[in-house]
Amino acid sequence: MEDRIHPHATSLIVRLLHDRTGQTLSEDRRYRVDRAIETVLTKRGIVCNSDLIVLLTQPDGPAVEQELIEALLNNETYFFRDRNVFSYLADRVLPELAQAKATSRELTIWSAGCSTGQEPLSLAMLLLEQGAIWRGWKLRILATDVSESAIAKARAATYSQFEIQRGLAVGQMLGHFEELKQDWRASHRLREMIDYRPGNLLLGSPGGAKFDLILCRNVLLYFDPAARQVAGGRLAEAMAPHSRLLLGSGESVIDGNGLFETVGSDGGVFRLARQAAVGRSAAA
Ligand SMILES: C[S@@+](CC[C@H](N)C(=O)[O-])C[C@H]1O[C@@H](n2cnc3c(N)ncnc32)[C@H](O)[C@@H]1O
Repeated sequence: MEDRIHPHATSLIVRLLHDRTGQTLSEDRRYRVDRAIETVLTKRGIVCNSDLIVLLTQPDGPAVEQELIEALLNNETYFFRDRNVFSYLADRVLPELAQAKATSRELTIWSAGCSTGQEPLSLAMLLLEQGAIWRGWKLRILATDVSESAIAKARAATYSQFEIQRGLAVGQMLGHFEELKQDWRASHRLREMIDYRPGNLLLGSPGGAKFDLILCRNVLLYFDPAARQVAGGRLAEAMAPHSRLLLGSGESVIDGNGLFETVGSDGGVFRLARQAAVGRSAAA
């Protein structure tokens, strides 16, 4: 183990993480890089750290890079994270969107940085529980994350006893999930409402699609200001004129770029700034 982490490896990986995801690692979180490198080396049976540098330049390099990045991402999530946000969605945001989209009866939602799926599943449960409002509507949730392993787990929609208990009421657990031997799997009804895809927020929404509602919660926290600016622009591009954007509680990270205005007094909910919306519809 001695001298296992090459002195250049840490800064190389920090730069990779930043270039690929926009995330910065402050000095006090750099220890995570060494841990990530150790994890990847051990998994691949590599004994000498200098082999890692060689490996990165070989055909397997991109896969190793992705593994290293994934080992550094914070995938923390749970069902109905910040219950008050979901109450606000249910009581204010969704009824307003139902009015705005009453003619087409189509609602599209983007969960950007969905991690292992608990956020889009919470949205899908909320829509089903609102029953009457959405009867006869075409509801579509697109859920993306830069972590391919998180997306694979989200697609499997299978959660351990510990995960299923984080944020779900017993009625929701029994009503929307099927008990397997040890785990719980989301119902077919929930699964068919969500389309999961790997995707980097910095590159915009898949296919440049526009959405009525975007959740991008607890994703931008570790972005540096320049990456936040890019992400803010991408989110704005993906918003229809009437749409709403939800960030994590306490995240006002894109408030200063002139593209968004806060909705309501609690913070965390945004719409396109009037000027930005006018400018975009004139250009369209
Ligand atoms: C802390 S989790 C938040 C999950 C969920 N939104 C929530 O609030 O519970 C942050 C997620 O953002 C993803 N992420 C980080 N940078 C990203 C990027 N550039 N594009 C897409 N997803 C990203 C991470 O992989 C991680 O799964």
